[in-house]
Amino acid sequence: MKLKDIRRDYSQAKLNEHNISPNPVQQFQDWMNQALEANIRDATAMSLVTVGKDGFPQSRIVLLKDFEQEGFTFFTNYRSEKGMAIEANPKISLHFFWPELERQIRISGIACKTSLVISKKYFHSRPQKSQIAASISEQSSVVQSREFLENKFAEYAEELNGKNPDYPENWGGYLVEPVKFEFWQGRENRLHDRIVYEKTDDEWKIKRLAP
Ligand SMILES: Cc1cc2nc3c(=O)[nH]c(=O)nc-3n(C[C@H](O)[C@H](O)[C@H](O)COP(=O)(O)O)c2cc1C
Repeated sequence: MKLKDIRRDYSQAKLNEHNISPNPVQQFQDWMNQALEANIRDATAMSLVTVGKDGFPQSRIVLLKDFEQEGFTFFTNYRSEKGMAIEANPKISLHFFWPELERQIRISGIACKTSLVISKKYFHSRPQKSQIAASISEQSSVVQSREFLENKFAEYAEELNGKNPDYPENWGGYLVEPVKFEFWQGRENRLHDRIVYEKTDDEWKIKRLAP
């Protein structure tokens, strides 16, 4: 099979200026609800793009854990590659792709750490083994072997002896305050719908982009 011969048409839905919400977070909520109702696997998975000190963008998947008008929340290790990149440059982008709905959403925003209360609360709500893994993993650093990690995990689990780990200070949430959204709906003949919301003077302005 030649990759060049792979193509499909998009015709499930339409997106126009009259059937969208004037508020992009509400529009996101509507599309997220539809993704969840459609049982899309990992609907909350999003590519997080940061720009590192070397100027190269890096993307990786993280899970959206909450959103509201103020912003979009995910959790990670603050000393990971993404954490260091955000510290130097908090301008980031989030990207969802839901092929089953022929949709993508791009969000640009400014990331800042969530409060300690939010980070701690979420950390302790996770399964205990996930808490242990987050505590012992110096995310994004080089490890000598798989065995090294597994030993570290087992040693800490033994030390805890059933107790929950303390909250690790290098782990927590980021809240991404959105400044721009793009909602993309696949359409017939590659004439896709692209609706952009941009924030100016605290107001969301809507425009349509060419596909
Ligand atoms: C489905 C999926 C969900 C993930 N969720 C998270 C997450 O919520 N937080 C996180 O730190 N890493 C998550 N990861 C791992 C990241 O993609 C990445 O490997 C890790 O955070 C290290 O990234 P960095 O070295 O660029 O900082 C997830 C990966 C996948 C495939």
